[in-house]
Order: sequence, then C-alpha cells, then structure tokens
Amino acid sequence: MKTILITGGAGFIGSHVVRLFVTKYPEYRIYNLDKLTYAGNLANLSDIEDAPNYTFIKGDITDAKFLEDLFAEVPVDGVIHLAAESHVDRSITDPMAFVMTNVVGTVNLLNAAKNSWVANGFDGKRFYHVSTDEVYGSLHNPEEFFTEETPYDPQSPYSASKAASDHFVRAYGNTYKMPVVLSNCSNNYGPNHFPEKLIPLMIHNIRNNKPLPVYGKGENVRDWLYVVDHARAIDTIFHNGKLGETYNIGGFNEWRNIDLVNLLCSIMDRKLGRPEGTSAQLITYVTDRAGHDLRYAIDAHKIMNELGWEPSLQFEEGLEKTVDWFLNNQEWLDNVTSGNYQSYYESMYANR
Ligand code: NAD
Ligand code: DAU
Repeated sequence: MKTILITGGAGFIGSHVVRLFVTKYPEYRIYNLDKLTYAGNLANLSDIEDAPNYTFIKGDITDAKFLEDLFAEVPVDGVIHLAAESHVDRSITDPMAFVMTNVVGTVNLLNAAKNSWVANGFDGKRFYHVSTDEVYGSLHNPEEFFTEETPYDPQSPYSASKAASDHFVRAYGNTYKMPVVLSNCSNNYGPNHFPEKLIPLMIHNIRNNKPLPVYGKGENVRDWLYVVDHARAIDTIFHNGKLGETYNIGGFNEWRNIDLVNLLCSIMDRKLGRPEGTSAQLITYVTDRAGHDLRYAIDAHKIMNELGWEPSLQFEEGLEKTVDWFLNNQEWLDNVTSGNYQSYYESMYANR
C-alpha cells in the first residue's frame, strides 16, 4: 500500500488531483495537507471527504517543525506538491507571501522528505513538484513554444518564486540524489476555479451583470487546459515519469484574452436566455497588469510521445462544461465570493 502526501489538495487543481487518486487508487492512503488559505476550500472535496483511504491534515508548509513531525508520524512514500500562492496579481502586491510559501515552504518539504527517507534509502520514494509554464517567461515570436529546454526567464514575483522552487527541487535531486520529478503546466480552467482568476471571474460577473475587467487591450495569449486533464497528466507523471525529468503539460489551445471573454459572453447569453451581444456590453478595458507576460504556449510533445498522455477535451466542450458547473453550483460561488466557505473546516473537521 502506498502512502501519498498531496499538498494544496483543498485548492483548485489539488482538489481534482486528490479526487482522482482517492477514487482511482483505493489501495493507496491519501493525505491532503493544506493550510486552508483564502484559496483552500474543503467544500471542493465534499464528495470524497468520508472515503476510507482519505485523510485531511490542516497545516502550513512554512512550518518546518510541523513537517518534520508529520513525516515522523506518517510513512510517506510519495509527495505530490501543489501547495502554493498561485495568483500573479497578488504576487505583485505581496511578493513575500510567495517567497514564504512557494520557496521556503518547498525547501521545508524537501528537507522533511529527505530526512525521513534517507535512513532507508530512496527506493520506492518519489517527490513530484507541480509547477507552471510561467517560469519560462513571455513568448514574443508567434512560431515559438515553451519546451522543456527553454531557459528560465520568470517575469513576475509569482513566476520567480515558482522558478526558485523548481531549482531547489532539481538541486535536491542532484545533490542528495533525491528521486524528484517536475512538471510545468499552462493555464488550467474548470470546476472549483477560484473566482479571482480570469474565467471564473468573468462567469461570475456576467451572471451578476457586473463589468468584465479586461487588462490592457486584451491581446495577451494564454494556453488553456481543462483541470481534469492536468490531474490525469499528474497521475501519469507521478507513476511513469522518469526520475530527474521535467514534463511540460498543455492543451495546444491558445486564446487571446479578449476572444476568450467574447466566447464566454456568447455562451452565457445562450445559457441565460439573453439576446446575443448582451453580456459583451459589460466588457471594460482596465489598466494593464504590471509586467504582463504577452504569450504562453506549451509544446507538450514530450509527455504525449513518451508517456502517452493527451488532453481528453476540446476547449469549447470544456468551457461549456465549466459554465454549466458554475451555473449549477451557484451556492459554491456565492459562498466563495461572500467568504462563507471558510467556516466549512470548522463545521466538518475541527472536532474530528
Ligand atoms: P490554488 O491557489 O487554487 O490552491 C493552492 C492551495 O495551496 C490552497 O488550497 C491553499 O490553501 C494551499 N496553500 C497555500 N499556502 C499554503 C501553505 N503555506 N501551506 C499549506 N497549504 C498552502 O492553486 P492552484 O491554481 O490549484 O495551483 C496549484 C499548483 O499548481 C500551484 O503550485 C501552482 O503554481 C500550480 N499551477 C497552477 C496553474 C493554474 O492554472 N492554476 C497552472 C500550472 C501550475
Ligand atoms: O500559466 C499558468 C498560470 O496560469 C498559473 O501558474 C497561475 O497559477 C494561474 O493563476 C494562471 O496565471 P495567469 O496570470 O495567466 O491567470 P489569470 O487567470 O490571472 O489571468 C489570465 C489572463 O487574463 C492574463 O493574461 C491576465 C488576464 N486577466 C486576468 C484577470 C484576473 C484579465 O484581463 N482580467 C482579469 O480580471
């Protein structure tokens, strides 16, 4: 039986990874370690919270002593590390929070895993760091894609902190021969996406007839992947990825922000029974994000050719599913936007 520690499992992507592992591998013991920051929401996992192979642990990866104690108590075979501060705009106003969780937290986790594993050798162990395509910087030539060989060139405090954490993970693989593997993924979208990010924010604002803030001229390009496809890629890499390697994950699915927002407006008009063109009138061009990266685009051939992974959903289908999820789960969205979701832990877990 494998014991796997997933960090950040109450967040957007982490909750999809936890669900996949808990349901697909009933023989595994899955621990979800999460601090429950503003981005952590245990309601994301309400459907599996009583599964016999699942345990939630509230904890902070910036607390080295807490992690050492945890690894002394739980015989962890594998770590899938997703816990992070994840929003670029927040990194511009509070970079230190990103240094603490993304850099210091990752090094604490590496140390705790190394110290508990080293005594019996690293056989059967694996430390998987989930990272982002933003570490590669910004593409300006339309023919170019990020490959695993693209030099790091992070441009925001968020991407600088993720780049630093990637370097530490590789350094532990090189220096201490820790069994590490990494992936760098493009923009995710789907159910449970926190409504500070572009797609859920737009869905929320369209539904409530609020302005749709498009940064700059809306010409920045992002490469979107359905979150469940990212979780499937993480499963594939965790089990079959070569130690010491990095895999880029993406959907070959580039959209200019303004085109994406217009598509969302049109889908929402249809679903809400509004005349076509109604929601697009809410589009408002606002001051650009400082240092806004122009274009991200992932070359995902390595994971496709070597590990046989590929995206399962076309974008239009994924976007329809996502809009349907948000419209059918208005209580989730209302709880998040009102802040009520943060009492879920107290009501469900505090006395367990
Ligand atoms: P998220 O912000 O939705 O979730 C982050 C989770 O980490 C939350 O549950 C939060 O409570 C937890 N967390 C934060 N600080 C913590 C701490 N100090 N200790 C323990 N837990 C803590 O993020 P996400 O969008 O799901 O991203 C997950 C990971 O995937 C991140 O590492 C991010 O860099 C990476 N990533 C995200 C995307 C994307 O499009 N969202 C794309 C590529 C990579
Ligand atoms: O590429 C992977 C990254 O994708 C992840 O590592 C990050 O954790 C994740 O947050 C995401 O970063 P982005 O900055 O690309 O995502 P965001 O949803 O914040 O913005 C997407 C694009 O939309 C970006 O060009 C900025 C723009 N935008 C965003 C918001 C929130 C707007 O025009 N208006 C907005 O209100």
